[in-house]
Amino acid sequence: MEPTTSSDYPDIVTGLLQTPATIAPKYFYDARGSALFEDITRLPEYYPTRTEQAIMAAHAPAMAQALGPGRTVIELGAGNCHKARALCTLIQARHYVAVDISEAFMQAAVAGMRQAFAHLPIDAVVADITGDWALPAQVPTARRLVFYPGSSIGNFDPPQAQALLARMRAVLGPDGALLVGVDLVKDAAVLNAAYDDAAGVTAAFNRNLLDHVNRLIGADFDPHQWHHRAFFNAAQSRIEMHLEAAQALEVCWRSGKRCFAQGERIHTENSYKYRVQDFVMLLRDAGFTQAQAWTDPRQWFAVVLAKP
Ligand code: AVI
Repeated sequence: MEPTTSSDYPDIVTGLLQTPATIAPKYFYDARGSALFEDITRLPEYYPTRTEQAIMAAHAPAMAQALGPGRTVIELGAGNCHKARALCTLIQARHYVAVDISEAFMQAAVAGMRQAFAHLPIDAVVADITGDWALPAQVPTARRLVFYPGSSIGNFDPPQAQALLARMRAVLGPDGALLVGVDLVKDAAVLNAAYDDAAGVTAAFNRNLLDHVNRLIGADFDPHQWHHRAFFNAAQSRIEMHLEAAQALEVCWRSGKRCFAQGERIHTENSYKYRVQDFVMLLRDAGFTQAQAWTDPRQWFAVVLAKP
């Protein structure tokens, strides 16, 4: 159950009081937000999910050979666990650990995984991977594979991404590996459409953040008073998502309030887009010495295998 005092979420309050205001993207993922994200992954404009799947299918034999059988797969941001199913089969995993911030959503997904893989030991860890997270003692230490698909690494700025990759490196022994999905720089029109789809699903996902924050800190945001804004910032190599006040308004929460002018924005997400060589440098700086990347024919997305 979600705590109901704003003192439990000082980061939300601090972000709301900043100029420009911010809300961390991890708060997208309440039950409705997780379901909306699922819908996003099926949108015609949102290419990352299906492109990553296509890369994994096209290069499955090479990946299986590079990884070898019998690994413990630790999936970060497991979501619906669908991506892990194919991987666990491909490399004959010996243990699977799903790590995700959304408990209700993950428990259902892990239940499905347990049905599909009756003989595979499976653990579920509810954790915010940007905080301190640890694996249960029963998770084997040998031949671990951290699997971080979906290009979620792009939702952190490069220094945070490096710190997160270093944390992943730290749970791996010398025989460990990391398989990570990375969205690549491409035409701005393709990027803009992927984050501002015609059906308005991404807009609903962005606005749902306000409903979630209302519950968490007792705020009175009216999501209908906020416009969805998403655009590629080429200088920073990132998609930015914002919520923009449609009119001057005041928002109150239990411990405070803030006025927003018409057009003032709350920055809700960045989604960094990399060039493969820049991402490999980031991996090096995080303690990985070997890297191998597979991409699609349009070079829109990469699946990168890194080893300590
Ligand atoms: C989870 N993450 C990789 C998504 C992305 O593409 O950055 C989140 C998202 N935000 C809007 N659409 C999808």
